Formats: sequence, C-alpha cells, structure tokens
Amino acid sequence: MMGNDLQKPHQLKKFKHWMVISFVITILFLIFLIWLYKPDVTLQFSVHYHSPTDAPQNKEQSPPPQQCGQRPNGQKVSLMAVNETKTVLVSAYQEHRKGKKEVRVIAVVLRNENVAYRCLLCCLDKLLISEGVSNSTIHRDHFYFAYGTADIMCPLPSGCETTSHISLISSAAKAEGTEELHMSEKTCNSFLEVKNQKAKSDSFSYNFTVCVSTMFDFTNVLQLVQSLEVLQLLDVDRVVIYKTSCSKETQLVLDYYTEKGLVEVIPWSWSRFLKVSRGFMPSRDPGDLHYYGQIPALNDCVYRYMYKSRYVALHDIDELILPQSVKSWSELLPILEGKYGADKCYMFENNVFPTTITKTPPAPHTLPTQSPDWQNVSGVNILAHLYQEPIIKKTKYMQFKIIVNPRAVFSMSIHGLLESQKGCSWVNRNIARMYHTRAPRQPNLTPEQLIYNDRLLSYSDRLTPAVTTVLRESGLLSEDNSH
Ligand SMILES: *[C@@H]1O[C@H](CO)[C@@H](O)[C@H](O)[C@H]1NC(C)=O
Ligand SMILES: *[C@@H]1O[C@H](CO)[C@@H](O)[C@H](O)[C@H]1NC(C)=O
Ligand SMILES: *[C@@H]1O[C@H](CO)[C@@H](O)[C@H](O)[C@H]1NC(C)=O
Ligand SMILES: *[C@@H]1O[C@H](CO)[C@@H](O)[C@H](O)[C@H]1NC(C)=O
Repeated sequence: MMGNDLQKPHQLKKFKHWMVISFVITILFLIFLIWLYKPDVTLQFSVHYHSPTDAPQNKEQSPPPQQCGQRPNGQKVSLMAVNETKTVLVSAYQEHRKGKKEVRVIAVVLRNENVAYRCLLCCLDKLLISEGVSNSTIHRDHFYFAYGTADIMCPLPSGCETTSHISLISSAAKAEGTEELHMSEKTCNSFLEVKNQKAKSDSFSYNFTVCVSTMFDFTNVLQLVQSLEVLQLLDVDRVVIYKTSCSKETQLVLDYYTEKGLVEVIPWSWSRFLKVSRGFMPSRDPGDLHYYGQIPALNDCVYRYMYKSRYVALHDIDELILPQSVKSWSELLPILEGKYGADKCYMFENNVFPTTITKTPPAPHTLPTQSPDWQNVSGVNILAHLYQEPIIKKTKYMQFKIIVNPRAVFSMSIHGLLESQKGCSWVNRNIARMYHTRAPRQPNLTPEQLIYNDRLLSYSDRLTPAVTTVLRESGLLSEDNSH
C-alpha cells in the first residue's frame, strides 16, 4: 500500500512537495476561472462593503474627499467636501426651468458658516469659472440642527453650452489652487457629474418612482418584501432607497430587487464628514444633521428622477398609498388630475395601523393573513394588522405623504413640498389614503377603539404568493420548505 512507501522519510517529503505544488496550481487555476467567467466579481465585492453598518466603510475606504468622484464601479452618490469649508456637495443637476442656463448643486452646509462659492465647470475641453454664483439658499426645514440642506446655483459662463462635471471652491480659498488647475481628464473625473443634461416631457423610463429616504439599522424584512410587492401591484416600477445600514437578510432582498430592476440602492453614509442625528430634535437626538440626512436624500431623489419618471412618490417603506375605488396608481392619477388639477402635489392622509395589536378580522373574513412560509422571516406582516387608529383632529394634517410630478418641484421636505410650481392638494380619503403599519401613534387606545379596514386584503390573493416567491428566490426560506 501507498502508506508503507510514504513511511520512508525522503519519499514523504517528495509527496508533500508535490501536494503543495498541485494545491497552488489548482488555486491559481480557480482564480483564473473566476476571473474569466465572472468579470463583474469586483462589483460584487463593492456591493458588500456598504453593509451592514456604517463603521467598516470608514476603515476600508476613506479616499481624500476630492477623489470621491473617482470611486470605482460608478459609485452613485459621491459626497464631496469643499476645501477650507464645512460644505459637503451631494449632487449636481442641470436646471432647465428658470429661463437661464445654470447648474443646481445640492449640498449640506454648516448653517452659521458664511461661504461665497465659485464654481469650476468642465465645458467640453475647457475648465471655466462660473461668475455670479448664488450664495447657498438653505432650506427652511433644518430642524435647528447645525447643518442644513442647501442649493447653490452656478450659472454657465458664456461660451459654455453644456457642462459635464462641476466642483465648488470657496472664493476665500487661496487663488493658487485655481491658477494651477489644468484641464485634464483627471480633473473632471474628480468633480461631480452634472446630471439631467436634457429636459424631457414624455417617454420616461418609469411611470411611478417611490423615493424611500434613509434606510438604517433595518431588519424588517417581511414588511419590506410585502411593501415592495404591493407597490408593484399599484404599478410602481422603480423604488429608490438611500441606504445607510441594514441586516444581512435585508441586503439579500435588496440585491434580489436590484437585479430585477425594481430597486436602486444609493449608499448614504455621512460618517466621513459629520455625525447624523438619529432623530428630529437636536436636544434629544444629538448630531449635526437631521435624521440620517433625510432631507438631502429626498431632494436628490426628486432631481435624479425628474426626467426618468412620470411621477415620484415620497414615503417610507412602512407606508402604502392605496386608492379606494380603483386598484392602481395608473387609474388613480387621472382621477386626481381631473379633480385637483395637473402638476400638483397630492397629499394623502396618514392612517396608522398599530403593529402592537393583532385582532382577527370580523366574521365573513376567513382569508389567511399569515402564510406558514413566512413564520421564520423577521419583520412585520402587514396583513395581520388591519385595525387602524381613528383619525383625530390633532394629527389629521400631520405626517402625510405625497405623489408629485417631479418637474413641477424645486425643493422637497419630508411631508409635502417647500417649493413647487402649483402647490399641493389634499386628497379626499374616499379616493385614496395612506396605510401606515407601524408602532402606535395613540398608544392609549384599547383594541375596541380601533377601526377595521380591509382595503389591503383586496390585494392579498396576488400578494401572498408573490411574497413567498421573493423570499424563496432571495434565499430566505430554507430549501426543504420550498415545495
Ligand atoms: C483642495 O485641496 C487639495 C489639497 O489641499 C488640493 O489638492 C485640491 O486641488 C483642492 N481642490 C480644489 C478644487 O481646489
Ligand atoms: C454672500 O456671502 C458673502 C460671504 O459672507 C457675503 O459677503 C455676500 O454679501 C453674500 N452675498 C449675497 C448676495 O448675499
Ligand atoms: C406607463 O403607463 C402607460 C399607461 O398605463 C403604459 O402604456 C406604459 O407602458 C407605461 N410605461 C412604462 C415605462 O412602464
Ligand atoms: C422555521 O424554523 C424551524 C427551526 O429552524 C424549522 O423547524 C421550520 O421548518 C422552519 N419553518 C419554515 C416554514 O421555514
């Protein structure tokens, strides 16, 4: 037997040698194969360092701010600091609606820092400086945090028809920087890309885009999948998620929908620049910027989809705007435009369905609201919470969410708009309203005071199998349970 031979010391050595060499060759061959058949393998890695928390990102990749634009794999939002100021640039969009050629730069600024900016623009083969740059206009909804969202408008200099990339400097910064600036491919690649180069009024890529701002520490997988499936039944064809951090299971779901083309995930991490607050009040939730940077995210989303989507809706993943007399948003919007006028923002009343109370639906309903397949998936099952809090005067006009024609909007706030062309209209609750499945807003109510509403069940025969399919295909149900 072989074992006998190997007992001779020198043959044993030879055998070990041979083993090591063939092992190395096998590994090299495998790497070669992976490289050959999976050219996007680096892309896969890049997806993973955005999750699950903010922290590792810091260590792994903190390029100097000016190089953010050069991050590999078409990094979607590249926050960029302005030298010698506290200003952080979020994104840049060509503004077509104000009668002059200009670029809108969405930024987050330290509110008590007074900065005059100069814009550097890449115009074909020239690097030009924009004159007459507006001082930043800080949005009113800063909630008294030290930092606020701002717009900085950069007019295109004469002789510059279009600009592909832009950067800002402080006028106070030493002029040496600008004199040394030579136009090169590298210079422009390190600037922000100017998006929305062409205005459009039809043939959009999407009909309904939902902007979900700031996903953080997210683990509510079942409700995420259910909401994304209801949205599709409503004819939503794009969902944009600004993601700070989430669980491994959530990431599987996001990857699944990204691959399907429904979801766009935008990495949203501010930790290199400032400390975001986890709440709405500087005194209670300390930090530099309101609620994970929700306001700049919403503003970015509206501009990002301005010429890609016919309508944009702004609401969270635990909120669903359900029409009452028709089934989909495609049927709802003509009704709203007929009744309230076109190009408005439509505001939907917030109805809270507390997740703390589970009551079985009244008699005639025997529909299964809980699929046995879902029992091991973490998160809220919206079909099990069909009792809502009554609408009370005190909160009737609060926490509403909107659907809007993004081309009629200049700036966004969380609930409703700050600046738009035609203003907003309340939608009658018998036409459509928002279903918000979450922790109670009126925690002192008894179960008897809650009101049954089964609108969601009219989607459940299509919803239930669709949710199970997604959970299975994204790997969240174990194989032995998939029949
Ligand atoms: C910002 O400062 C860095 C280092 O001081 C310099 O290399 C860079 O060119 C500056 N950027 C601009 C746009 O002036
Ligand atoms: C813009 O800010 C600068 C710097 O503080 C200030 O000197 C200037 O007056 C401001 N310009 C306008 C138009 O407000
Ligand atoms: C948008 O909706 C219209 C009418 O329902 C439909 O014909 C069109 O194909 C939809 N567009 C997209 C991009 O899905
Ligand atoms: C849920 O998990 C338990 C324990 O791991 C397992 O026995 C059961 O089959 C699982 N159920 C489903 C539907 O996956």
